[in-house]
Amino acid sequence: MKIVKKIAELKRLIKLVKNKKKIIGFVPTMGYLHEGHLSLIRIARKHSDYVVCSIFVNPIQFGPNEDFNRYPRDFKRDESLLKKEKVDLLFYPSVKEMYPEGYKTYVEVEGLSSVLCGKSRPGHFRGVATVVLKLFNIVQPDIAVFGEKDYQQALIIKQMVRDLNLNVKIITAPIVRESDGLAMSSRNTYLNTEERVNATIINQALIWARDVFYKENIKSPEYILNRMRQMIEDKGGTIDYIAIVDKETLEPVRFVKKGDRILLAVYFGRTRLIDNTAV
Ligand code: PAJ
Repeated sequence: MKIVKKIAELKRLIKLVKNKKKIIGFVPTMGYLHEGHLSLIRIARKHSDYVVCSIFVNPIQFGPNEDFNRYPRDFKRDESLLKKEKVDLLFYPSVKEMYPEGYKTYVEVEGLSSVLCGKSRPGHFRGVATVVLKLFNIVQPDIAVFGEKDYQQALIIKQMVRDLNLNVKIITAPIVRESDGLAMSSRNTYLNTEERVNATIINQALIWARDVFYKENIKSPEYILNRMRQMIEDKGGTIDYIAIVDKETLEPVRFVKKGDRILLAVYFGRTRLIDNTAV
């Protein structure tokens, strides 16, 4: 596995790969890798001949009071996991390399970026769209894989690709969960033992919601969301948002139907967790 820190060097190598007519698959990450990330790499591998992964904790997608500084990092461990997956190239740039002094350009995907996580984290998706566009321009992938764990993020990236006529196909991948159902996340390491146990209610509430729709034919979002809220608060979670929305527009639905998306963000202690499911 090649490890590259400089953009110029990466572009030089990518040119050589392109000359060989290889299909480039790309998985952008912020590192502290888990099985969720690795599942994306395996999907990228299936759709390409040359797999590039990036690790970059992107400062501009974190708010001033968020966890940029304490975001978990373990490069040596990540490196060995990626080697095992036979990733061809790991791009590991510094903040200075990505945002040199005088950096001024940002990408704003309107509409989708201003609801749900976008409302709670102003500027977050502007930072995500900007770094992903930069990474796409540097890596020039034919396909890129994003997880449904960050459902809104994947929709925003797809919108950006359409709107800016980018030559990359976006593939989305299912959420990978721990054996007790908690969605895998680098941020799960922030949870103490009690919070970690209680956080399993998030997935249980999502399963309950699907069940009540399919088995009891309940279509009222208010009813379902109120009960979910109660279940989560009973376990000590503080709800940031919880919504049942159209799977493309992210607008709240008046009646629940198959294919709608239930999304939520919940604090356990200081840790903000997100999860979602298709109805
Ligand atoms: P990060 O949180 O490291 O996630 C990288 C990719 O892994 C994203 O596409 C995310 O949806 C996916 N992922 C995370 N946990 C997952 C899980 N449990 N199951 C399936 N996929 C999962 O998302 C980011 O980084 C950043 O915003 C990034 C896109 C790299 C831009 O900085």
